[in-house]
Amino acid sequence: MQNIYDNPVFFDGYSRLREKTDNANDLFETPALMGLLPDLAGCAVLDLGCGMGDHCAEYVRRGAAKVVGIDISEKMLAAARERNGGPRIEYLRLPMEQLGALDGPFDVVASSLAIHYVADYAGLAANVFRLLKPGGVFAFSQEHPLTSCFTTGERWTKNEKGEKVFANISNYSVDGERLTEWMVEGVRKYHRTFSTVVNTLVDAGFAVERLVEPVPDAEMRRAYPRHADLVHKPDFLLVRARRPR
Ligand SMILES: C[S@@+](CC[C@H](N)C(=O)[O-])C[C@H]1O[C@@H](n2cnc3c(N)ncnc32)[C@H](O)[C@@H]1O
Repeated sequence: MQNIYDNPVFFDGYSRLREKTDNANDLFETPALMGLLPDLAGCAVLDLGCGMGDHCAEYVRRGAAKVVGIDISEKMLAAARERNGGPRIEYLRLPMEQLGALDGPFDVVASSLAIHYVADYAGLAANVFRLLKPGGVFAFSQEHPLTSCFTTGERWTKNEKGEKVFANISNYSVDGERLTEWMVEGVRKYHRTFSTVVNTLVDAGFAVERLVEPVPDAEMRRAYPRHADLVHKPDFLLVRARRPR
């Protein structure tokens, strides 16, 4: 497992990205994730890859009785404790690969843009299933499979004005590790096809209830033209699954 968020160059770059007021997480991904969550009043919530804890704090604002945020990165957790601490939130340094060390039960397990860093998705799904109460919800976002599949070459075909006209897709059907350059070289993520994403959850015992691929509508495209290319290829996939009663 890789702890790239503790790389100082990566951490600085990522922090700057998230500070931009028009970042895609805040505009498209987080609202979609919040839209998949049940009423959190009185709930115990686990956040996988909680990062700087913004979502943990939001779960408390939405009435959660207890929130546990886990992350592999010391730097992200230090920022979380400083910015988004509170009596109802516990932050733990724990890789998602070691969820077996955690006890539940939780009403909701949520995760925002972290699961694509885990190689053993089936193992993760089995652990989340175990940690959830019957009827509990697993809601997560991940890099969209049409984005995570990328291996080499140009990501986009552009016209003579330099505008993106087609996304270039390669190796979609090949699940597994992808090494990409994002802030630094050698960032390791894992691509999985739609069928792997969904069927792995079904095999773990989940009922898959909803998929969301957020893209800007016409008004958002006018307000945030730099995100207009999401219309051709979404960057995010969100899933809500439930442990049956
Ligand atoms: C894109 S950030 C998202 C942070 C937060 N969920 C948010 O949306 O603001 C991904 C987070 O996943 C964490 N992460 C990556 N691999 C992990 C692993 N194997 N176990 C636990 N956390 C991991 C990173 O340290 C980072 O904080």
